[in-house]
Amino acid sequence: MRKQFLTLALLGLSVGLISWGFKGHQAVATIAQKHLTPHTAYVVSAYLQGESMANVSTWADEHRNPTGKWHFLNPPLGLSHQQFVDFVSQQSNDNVYGAILKEEAILKDNASSFEQRNLALKYLIHLIGDAHQPMHISRKEDKGGNTIQVRFDNKDTNLHSLWDSKLIDHEGLSEADMAKQYDWANEAQIKKWQADNPMEWLWESYQISTELYADVKPGQTMDEAYYKKYIPTIHLRIDQAGIRLAGELNKLLTDTKAKIVKQALMPQKNTPHSGEKVAAVNLNDIGKYIGDTVKVVDKIYGYKELANMTMLNMGGAFPNQRLTVILKGDAKKYLAAMIQLDSNKKSKSINGRQLLAIGPVTLYRSKPQIVISDPNKFGLYPDK
Ligand code: ADE
Ligand code: ZN
Ligand code: ZN
Repeated sequence: MRKQFLTLALLGLSVGLISWGFKGHQAVATIAQKHLTPHTAYVVSAYLQGESMANVSTWADEHRNPTGKWHFLNPPLGLSHQQFVDFVSQQSNDNVYGAILKEEAILKDNASSFEQRNLALKYLIHLIGDAHQPMHISRKEDKGGNTIQVRFDNKDTNLHSLWDSKLIDHEGLSEADMAKQYDWANEAQIKKWQADNPMEWLWESYQISTELYADVKPGQTMDEAYYKKYIPTIHLRIDQAGIRLAGELNKLLTDTKAKIVKQALMPQKNTPHSGEKVAAVNLNDIGKYIGDTVKVVDKIYGYKELANMTMLNMGGAFPNQRLTVILKGDAKKYLAAMIQLDSNKKSKSINGRQLLAIGPVTLYRSKPQIVISDPNKFGLYPDK
């Protein structure tokens, strides 16, 4: 009994670590973030409550119970395109294809709650990545290559894990550098990729995994030549996943009404944060939090746009503000985009609007400030 338990636990472990690894998923999310329209970026930032897409990209792997089957699909080998489409269409929805369609429907549905949107977005960010990992569209007999043992970099591993992470680790780039170097697609290419539907993404993965199965012998040592042959395929699949994720979100979220975004930006009773918890702090107490990372929601008294930063005075007009929120870089750019989005307003001023800001409180000339350059760390409440 005990031995059986141990075997089960080991088996669970060996097939439990299954997805592009952390780096793969984070690169997909970072590439996607760069291809969002400002409007979509705004909605995404609201749904994720200030967390970045990269940050939530592996959440679904940490919550596989009871959705473990949502990460892959196991068709038999040797299907034609039509047979593949028929096979996938006839499956129950408990696989990566069904899960992607289900989560997309939730994001599109005006009746979905904030919690549903937050979950659906986290699943979609992850699962579009998995759909592009060739070994996630693979054979049932070998658990998607998990039971095909190989050696790589002087270690025992398996074909699945090689494609989730080992080839990427061997390349040795940071997630940020991956996102930069992999993302080579031009406008025409982007348009083409974004026009393909999820069935085609899976078909592509299936064709690649078919080749990978033909190119491996159990127990084989994978050498530098194998790495060199296939690393461009990994670059391609991760770039495609990121660009298509952005394409899907741009389509799904264009019509999202200000009312729904506002609901998401309201402080939630049970914020389903997947990462660090950030304490919401009252502006009157901000002085007690110097050095701490906090979340503040309050009214904008006034603001000033400079060339390289936008300064927002909170809790009072300059120079009597309680807190200055300073937006730089992409954060500054996105605020400008949000102001533009309020096209139905005569005045483009955001004075009086509620601002959400997340970051460490520092002192500048003995006044509290929060400096933000990540567009996911602030939000502007839609106007009433
Ligand atoms: N991960 C766990 N089981 C799998 C399977 N059967 N196919 C692909 N990926 C998997
Ligand atoms: Zn996964
Ligand atoms: Zn995997």
